[in-house]
Amino acid sequence: MAEQASFVDTTVHLDVKDYYGKTLQKTSDIKSNVCVAPTEPLPKFILQALKKVHPDVTDRYYGCGLAVPECLEGCRILDLGCGSGRDCYMLSQLVGEAGHVTGIDMTEDQLEVARKHVDFHMKEFGYRKPNVTFVQGYIEALTEAALEKNSFDIIISNCVVNLSPDKKQVLAEAFSVLKEGGELFFSDMYSNGRQTEEIKNNKVLWGEGFGGALWYKDLLQLAEEVGFRPPRLVKANVIAVDNKEMQAILGDFKFVSATYRLFKLPKGSGKPCKAIYNGNITGAEDSLHFDCQYTFKANQVTEVDGELASILTQSRYAQAFTFQPLRKSCEPCEVKPKAGSGDPFELAVQLQKQSAGSATGGCCSTQSGTCCK
Ligand SMILES: C[S@@+](CC[C@H](N)C(=O)[O-])C[C@H]1O[C@@H](n2cnc3c(N)ncnc32)[C@H](O)[C@@H]1O
Repeated sequence: MAEQASFVDTTVHLDVKDYYGKTLQKTSDIKSNVCVAPTEPLPKFILQALKKVHPDVTDRYYGCGLAVPECLEGCRILDLGCGSGRDCYMLSQLVGEAGHVTGIDMTEDQLEVARKHVDFHMKEFGYRKPNVTFVQGYIEALTEAALEKNSFDIIISNCVVNLSPDKKQVLAEAFSVLKEGGELFFSDMYSNGRQTEEIKNNKVLWGEGFGGALWYKDLLQLAEEVGFRPPRLVKANVIAVDNKEMQAILGDFKFVSATYRLFKLPKGSGKPCKAIYNGNITGAEDSLHFDCQYTFKANQVTEVDGELASILTQSRYAQAFTFQPLRKSCEPCEVKPKAGSGDPFELAVQLQKQSAGSATGGCCSTQSGTCCK
């Protein structure tokens, strides 16, 4: 049998490894001074979980969002580009001892910090055996890193896909290791257009996430090409570029940090229906913010279109809902998809306006716990 070719570092991979392994040693070393202003405070249970993470780990946090979906108990999660492991250790608590979190990263220096603190965290969480594993490997080659196809319930990622030179391959690999019904829930940086070669070739801009940030419309296209259902936009934050030198090269390009849900489902759309959320998801007892269009209030009837009906009935969220047909008779059943779904720049501005006046300490607020990058 022919041997499989193993993944070879491109110049971009080598530069990024060097940036996150050697150049940056702690969060405040990030040169761009780009901060993601919090639009809302973090839920209490997430803050509590973050408080239990070792400071050596949180000191090397370089994320740009909050990659924590709901309904996690007992799940198998994969974190693409886990870095020093902050999100893995937070999720380790949320999936519980019966769940498992695997972090993959290509940079040994980052993994070294993550691995050093496994025992500390397991003791802190009161687990008899570790429910986290850290794997050295490439997000473009997950199966080559011995991650099994169709084996994860959820994949998360926090500010990493922008660093890959081959986003389509990353999405394809994620699709392949997700179980059917599984969800890729990830926060990343997006641009309002395709960057110039000058921007893409600038090592610092690439390392800081600007050079490789996808034009958000390209994400929609790539997701469809690899087989995911249309991405559902959850949140978005404006990214302000404070650094003058960077501003000069970036010109009129704008950037946001945005979180999307992408589902791997059987082909074909479902029928529109009524969905009633039962309020049983930890941390979302009153309401479940599913995406920027749908927030399900507990015990209330919401009419959903065929696409969302497919997602809710065929993913792990099915256990949190009851479903009813739209109408009893055979009249045509239609729920029009809500308009204005897709633009993270519009959403970020809208959320920024909403949060003005109720800010939780502004950019880099430690109270909010959101990232500064
Ligand atoms: C911006 S940091 C984010 C780390 C972590 N998610 C966090 O929130 O702190 C990016 C991480 O992704 C890793 N990374 C970048 N490109 C990668 C690739 N192609 N394959 C594997 N890891 C990669 C880097 O080594 C680095 O640790």
